[in-house]
Amino acid sequence: MTNIQLPDVGTTEALVTQLKASLPDFGRIVDRYGHAAPALRQLGLVHWENGRFDAAARAFTSALSLATEDPDLWRDLASVYSALDQDEQALAAIRVSLELAPDNAQSWQTLASVADRLDDAETAEGAYRRVIDLNPKAAAAHLGLGLLLFRRKSYEAALAAVRASVDLDYVNGLAHFALGHLSFIALDFASCARAFDEAARLTLPLDAPSRQKRARAITFQAMIEGRVQEALQEYSGIAGDDREDLDVIARDAFSVLSASGHLEAAAEIGRMRLAEKPDDPVRRYLLDAVVGRTMAAAPTEYIEQYFDQFAPQFDSKLLGTLQYDAPSQMAKLVAGHRDRFNRMLDLGCGTGLAAEELMRFGSTLIGVDLSSGMLAEAAKRGGYAELVKSEAVAYLQTTQDRFDLIFAADSLIYFGDLGPLLRAAAGAMVQGGLLALSIEVAEGQSFTLRPSGRFAHSLEHLKTAATDFVILESVESHIRLEAGRPVPGLYVILERH
Ligand SMILES: C[S@@+](CC[C@H](N)C(=O)[O-])C[C@H]1O[C@@H](n2cnc3c(N)ncnc32)[C@H](O)[C@@H]1O
Repeated sequence: MTNIQLPDVGTTEALVTQLKASLPDFGRIVDRYGHAAPALRQLGLVHWENGRFDAAARAFTSALSLATEDPDLWRDLASVYSALDQDEQALAAIRVSLELAPDNAQSWQTLASVADRLDDAETAEGAYRRVIDLNPKAAAAHLGLGLLLFRRKSYEAALAAVRASVDLDYVNGLAHFALGHLSFIALDFASCARAFDEAARLTLPLDAPSRQKRARAITFQAMIEGRVQEALQEYSGIAGDDREDLDVIARDAFSVLSASGHLEAAAEIGRMRLAEKPDDPVRRYLLDAVVGRTMAAAPTEYIEQYFDQFAPQFDSKLLGTLQYDAPSQMAKLVAGHRDRFNRMLDLGCGTGLAAEELMRFGSTLIGVDLSSGMLAEAAKRGGYAELVKSEAVAYLQTTQDRFDLIFAADSLIYFGDLGPLLRAAAGAMVQGGLLALSIEVAEGQSFTLRPSGRFAHSLEHLKTAATDFVILESVESHIRLEAGRPVPGLYVILERH
């Protein structure tokens, strides 16, 4: 059944004789059940409770040599192997237990915990879900599933699972702790602060990052309730020794509140921050976006300053936190139409995430971007024949190059009316050349500047603006996460007439 070695029956019988002689209680249990296996199991449990895991494993394997078909014994053995960090053995033992009793919720829970420790998320998730099917009130399974989904960044599902575990077992501090972090991601600041307070009350004091998050949550919640100035004044008192720079708190409050639709509070913070630095193009533009001012494109000073500052963290933030993979998705779509290009342009190339994807199509790739910080990162990454610091439309209008692929991943979101850009792109392309782009999707006919400072476009607007192109393919997708939620977008492949 398994590669776990059980002692032979003769050896176990010798052990039983010896135990009977030395432990009167052991003999009494054997007599009561008329069988030595239950007595060996009791002995194993006593060893286990007292932390003598090796001795417990020996007792359980001895018991199993006399009762190989006992699923509970196999589960007990799995649990002590797990306590001994012998996870592969634990896995083997729990699988035998489940073969013998496939509907035992406790055994599925053991499998889930062992698989979780082995980083086998798929097995662990399936096992947690099986426990919940068999016993919907199994708080530990809801919590295990929630923590696993949290690690996988499936935040909404994780939040639902952790909430269920808190409802079922209110006194588990770890569940409140996870609820605090997940509520913060879901921008539910009141629940976040409450959950952290319960975690601290029920278990240990919070660690410093969680205390900081709690202070932010209380501050952001007060702002949402209309007390922006007071919240900032009270922040230091709430955060105590964990306090962060007040300017950073105000900046993050602005972006969090604008992303979560609390535009009045965000605008008040935005005005305050602009009054401190009236010449700051980032502060001005983001305030404009939050109050709904319309414009043709994001100002170039904003793009430069924002992306110069952001460049060193761009890759880890986009690829990690925001789950961004437009370059790879778009390159796959391009490959469905053509696989060789003579001259490729990565428009708004940023840190060069697309370079690796595009190199397989040809050797001449040019990157254009307004931000020298981003271009410096792209240069480190490599893959470009040339990197040019220029505004995109200006470059397209003046270049002598004629491209057969223009690739614009997540850069059209900084343009409102796409007409001028697409006309300029057409002028810099050979007939039959491909243009691959991504957009955030807006309702209606036109485009809109969102509080995030990014534009969203309707497919109608793209079609109207792309008079020199025919759309070969458009695919709905999530471009990235924003405030923990997926941003709906489109990847589009167009061909130059
Ligand atoms: C969100 S990043 C995307 C970068 C890269 N395409 C990627 O997929 O990782 C947007 C990039 O577009 C650049 N950008 C925005 N507006 C621009 C413009 N008008 N001209 C040139 N580059 C621009 C920014 O500097 C930034 O590097």
